[in-house]
Amino acid sequence: MKVLGLSGSLRAGSHNSKLLRAAGDLLPEEAELVEFDGLKLIPPFDEDDEHTRPDTVQALFDAIASADAVLVATPEYNHSLPGQFKNALDWMSRPPEPPFDGKVVAIMGASPGPVGTARVQYDLRKVLVFMNAFTVNKPEVFIANCASKFDAQGNLTDEASAKFIGDLLVSLQNLKTRVG
Ligand SMILES: Cc1cc2nc3c(=O)[nH]c(=O)nc-3n(C[C@H](O)[C@H](O)[C@H](O)COP(=O)(O)O)c2cc1C
Repeated sequence: MKVLGLSGSLRAGSHNSKLLRAAGDLLPEEAELVEFDGLKLIPPFDEDDEHTRPDTVQALFDAIASADAVLVATPEYNHSLPGQFKNALDWMSRPPEPPFDGKVVAIMGASPGPVGTARVQYDLRKVLVFMNAFTVNKPEVFIANCASKFDAQGNLTDEASAKFIGDLLVSLQNLKTRVG
């Protein structure tokens, strides 16, 4: 199983990108996680230009289309999706062959705040419904007060968080098996 890791953060020291790395370590050997690193290169979506899809946008289309499943780790900005991430999702929603259609997606997120991206995750689920993706419902992985949960090298050290992520990956694999 090939899982595409998608971080909603552009930041070099992103906690959410670190969560994806932790998830990669927790996957069983027969599965692999490949992180998409071109989010910053995606131009603003303009409906007038959508039929000439830029290469940087096509790269994300192809990465999602060729993955068996997608694992998103996103920050919460102003209780919702970071603008550049939402912009990329808007590109991904457009035909031909929008790549989230029928795709299995798991969501997690980390925040220094007390609710650990709960609000953005519900907004993201709503967006993915319109794109006809199948999102994992349980467990919900809200990593609150996240700064204390990584060591200086960026490794996830909090066992409870690692357990939630491991359980999410199992649910992702199970949903993929059911959806096909
Ligand atoms: C524009 C902006 C808005 C933010 N809004 C929220 C918010 O609504 N809720 C929250 O928990 N944290 C909020 N934060 C703090 C982010 O959770 C924090 O910067 C986090 O580390 C970003 O994720 P990253 O480490 O993956 O880049 C906001 C940060 C920025 C820059």
